[in-house]
Formats: sequence, C-alpha cells, structure tokens
Amino acid sequence: MTDSFPWPGNGEVPHARLPKIAYGIGTRLFDSSGKDYIDGSGGPAVFCLGHAHPEVNEAIKRQLDRVAHGYRYNFTSDPLEELTEIVANRCGPGYGRMIFTTGGSEAVESALKVALHYHSANGEPSRRRFIARRRSWHGNTLGALSVSEFKERRDPFEGALIPASHISPANTYRPPANVAPDQVAQYCAQELEDEILRLGARTVAAFIFEPVVGAAGGVVPAPDRYASLVRAVCDRHGVLMIADEVMCGAGRCGTWRALEYDGVQPDVMAIAKGLAGGYVPLGATIYHDRVAATLEARAGGPMTGHTFTGHTLACAAGVAVQRIVKRDGLVKRVAVDGPKLMQRLKERFADLASLGDLRGRGFFIGLEFVADRASKTPFPPGYGLHNRIRARSLENGLICYPMGGNVDGVAGDTVILAPPYNASAAELEEIADKLERSVREALASVSAA
Ligand SMILES: Cc1ncc(COP(=O)(O)O)c(C=O)c1O
Repeated sequence: MTDSFPWPGNGEVPHARLPKIAYGIGTRLFDSSGKDYIDGSGGPAVFCLGHAHPEVNEAIKRQLDRVAHGYRYNFTSDPLEELTEIVANRCGPGYGRMIFTTGGSEAVESALKVALHYHSANGEPSRRRFIARRRSWHGNTLGALSVSEFKERRDPFEGALIPASHISPANTYRPPANVAPDQVAQYCAQELEDEILRLGARTVAAFIFEPVVGAAGGVVPAPDRYASLVRAVCDRHGVLMIADEVMCGAGRCGTWRALEYDGVQPDVMAIAKGLAGGYVPLGATIYHDRVAATLEARAGGPMTGHTFTGHTLACAAGVAVQRIVKRDGLVKRVAVDGPKLMQRLKERFADLASLGDLRGRGFFIGLEFVADRASKTPFPPGYGLHNRIRARSLENGLICYPMGGNVDGVAGDTVILAPPYNASAAELEEIADKLERSVREALASVSAA
C-alpha cells in the first residue's frame, strides 16, 4: 500500500494503488501482505455483521448445495418467502409487498418505477416528475442517478438524465438560505410544497429522499418534524413519498426502518446494504399495501424486475443475517452503543478546531472538517483532505469512508463511520483511536504542504 494521493476525486480508485484483500474475520480485514485493518465503516456501510460470520457462511453454503437460484417465473422458494415475512415484520404494519433486487441502485430504480406505475394505474399518467434533494445519492443507474445530486458522478451524463427537481437538503449545520436551525424543517417542507405547486401537482409522481443522508452529505440526519412535515405535503398533493434507506436503513440508525425514528411511513422504500450484510448482493423495494392495492387491482402488480430478482441464494443470506440481527438484539445494541461511540469521538476531537460538525444516529456517524470553524469554510478542494484521511487511515489499519464535495458538490471533506452492529466495545475504541490518529496526521500533512 502506497501513501500516494490524491486519488482522482471520488471516482474509481486505480487498483494498482490499493491493497489486495485476502480474508476477513469479524470486524477485521487482512490484505495479501498480512496487514490487518479494523473495519470502521463496514466498507460503505454494508457489513453489519462483520466478515466471515460462520452462521451466515454456513447458511449460504447450505443453500448453494441445494440450488443457487429458482428463477422467478418458474419458482418461489423458502428463502424468498422467509425473507419476505421477516422484512414485512421488521417494517411494521402495511408493508407486505416487496421486490428483491441485487443492490441499492436497482432498489431505487424499482422504487421510481413503482411510483410511476402506481400513478398510471391510478388514472393519473401525467404524474411523471420526481422531486429530490441536492447533496443526495441514490445510485448509479440512469434513473437513480437522475434523482441524485452528486456533481462529479452526474457531470459526464448531463443531458441524458431524466428531468428531476432538486430542492434543499434538510441540513441544520448548513441551513438552506441561512435560516435558523430550528426553522430548517419548516423551510424545507415549504420548499417542497412550492416546487410541487410550481410544477403542477398533477405532474409530480414522487418525492425521494434519504431520511439520513449518507455519502453525499457525510451523514446528515434530518431535524425532528421534517419527515412528518414532508409526509403531510406529499399527502396534500397526491405525491408519493419514497424513502431511500439503502444506507441508513436495516438497523444502521438504531431502528430497523430509519423513518421509524420519525414515526413516519413512506409509500415506497428502498433498502439494500445491511439487508444481507454484504455477504451476497441484495436489496429490496418495499411498497405500502395501499400502493399495492391499486397496482394489483388495476395492473396485476408492478412492472419491474430482473433475472436475479428474488435470487434464492441472496435471500438465504438475507434470512441468515436478519435472524442473527434479531436473535442477538443488534438493532437495540446499535441504538445504545451509537451514542457511546459518538461521545468517545467528541472527547477525542474536543480540541480539534478543524472538526466542524460531528453528527449521526446509531452506528451511522459523520465528521465534517472545516478550515474555519466560525464561518464553516471548507478546506480548498485542491488539498484533497478526505483523500489524505483515507490514505492515512489505510496506512494506520483503519477502513473508514471519507468523501468530498458535501458543501457544494466540489468543496467539503467528510468521513463516515458505520461499524458492524456486533463490533465489541474494544473494537469501537480502536476505531475511534485510529481515526483520531489518521485525521490528525492528514491535517498535519495539509499544513505542511
Ligand atoms: C442512499 C443510497 N441509495 C442508493 C445507493 C446505491 O446503491 P448501490 O451502490 O448498491 O447500487 C447508495 C449507495 O451508496 C446509497 O447510499
């Protein structure tokens, strides 16, 4: 592993500069040279049970020995039916219908299509537009990318993306239009309503948002009341609410659904990363019974799906992961241990003027670094601070999730921590320790540059 940087923005990192993965055990990963890393971010907030969990591996092997996949037009399967029941139970009343996908982008793509199809089936085919938010990430397929606002990832495709409106993120550290932090929820809900009215309500299919923004914002939980206010706006105008819980859902924030915290039910929801914990690619688009009722009565069901929809092996992995999460009380544990990790980080970084904000929920924590704390001015993007933190972290044996551009699409440096739900107290302390060291070294290298 070389310490060279910067990497080319947030794009693909050249393989030649990366260590080669050899194996993992629990919260620890080993590269081919034998060097070990503690997984402080579960990769990109995926590995909720850590690596090589023997029970999950055993369940996957057992399923593989029976059959890898029963194609959806020919068969149903025990894992598909069991996972449907588990997810329906975890989501709570009203969520009996879902489509299993191979990841987050596909889950978002199907969420958008379910919304469009619902309106067609409901006799309102004019509802084609999506409203999303700036500084959001919904995935790399064209539909999901169209509703995302991640400048670097969109730029090469501008002109070919489907039209979508992007309104302000609900960020109390960087409030839109400089409103007071306690006015952010109201301001953003009003902005949504204004945009619906500007477009004409009968043209708007859905509002899509991340209840806790992940990669594009560096973990940004919406303020209290935001979700219920935007829910009310959507209801007033017949607009569906799509919650993208690909990163923040499946227990990561200390409730199984992230919006459970707000007491809000979306019409459609996308989940992925923590569902099968990264053991096999898996996601899901879940839609409310009232959406299903219209779709099923008038169209027979949603028109979406792929060869690997409801992949049997992937569902078996999902069942194994979700059973362990439930049996071991891991969502509760995340809710209890998350604030402790946050507190440790607060203590460790207390003297660091460059830490502008420390925020999050459960095991989903973001640190935002600034050149000037009072004005919240970010570091010049040319410093590549987040890439320096990534380089120092890897050198120090820590996997974390640094990201750039959270302020305006270009400037801004954040780091996400998203440890496995079953990380021990000692492992959480090691993550905090290595992050502190890596951040301080990266900042020192910026000053020296
Ligand atoms: C909130 C959110 N939605 C969608 C996606 C896309 O998921 P995937 O990379 O599995 O396609 C991501 C990925 O990071 C995400 O964070």
